[in-house]
Amino acid sequence: MASESSTLPVKNLYNVEVFLCKMSYTYKAMITRSEAETIELGEKLGKILKKGSTVALKGDLAGGKTTFTKGIGKALNVKSVVNSPTFTILKIHEGDIPLYHIDAYRLENNSYDLGISEYEDEGIMVIEWPEYYEDFLPEEYLEVVFTYIDENTRQILFHPHGEYYEKIEREMTC
Ligand SMILES: Nc1ncnc2c1ncn2[C@@H]1O[C@H](COP(=O)(O)OP(=O)(O)OP(=O)(O)O)[C@@H](O)[C@H]1O
Ligand SMILES: [Mg+2]
Repeated sequence: MASESSTLPVKNLYNVEVFLCKMSYTYKAMITRSEAETIELGEKLGKILKKGSTVALKGDLAGGKTTFTKGIGKALNVKSVVNSPTFTILKIHEGDIPLYHIDAYRLENNSYDLGISEYEDEGIMVIEWPEYYEDFLPEEYLEVVFTYIDENTRQILFHPHGEYYEKIEREMTC
């Protein structure tokens, strides 16, 4: 009998029930089983995001946030390397649309304005550790939550804030 495949497709979905204030919401979580699959998922998102979009990447250390951002960069034809150098909080990558990659981990709880709000409409903003950049998050954005399952497996959950991002969530999970 065949054992469970290690190459299940990215679109392998299951529902996650979240109970909040007595209301029940169902989100569709995705499972990726390699770095390449997470890049592929990021690329799919990058292809449907419009200028001015904001994506907030939350979750575990080594959960795949930077890896996913690489995929978004790929979709935007970014040529510079998408990574997270220890002391760089904002990296701007030129592409078909500029990618503003923020890794707020080092900001910790020190609210700090990176001064990019005036450029936001021109590009796509991707924020790792948005918990440390909360004061500057727009009202509407796509939250993506990464959970480390095992060495090669990650759960990725889309949580839209706002109508535009609800539409994107549906496109990503259908
Ligand atoms: N399914 C997977 N998806 C993404 N990365 C994976 C997967 N399986 C293994 N990996 C590995 O896990 C690591 C993910 O690192 P990455 O820098 O993307 O995480 P991160 O969430 O940005 O971490 P940090 O919180 O430190 O910024 C990489 O070394 C990658 O090769
Ligand atoms: Mg990272």
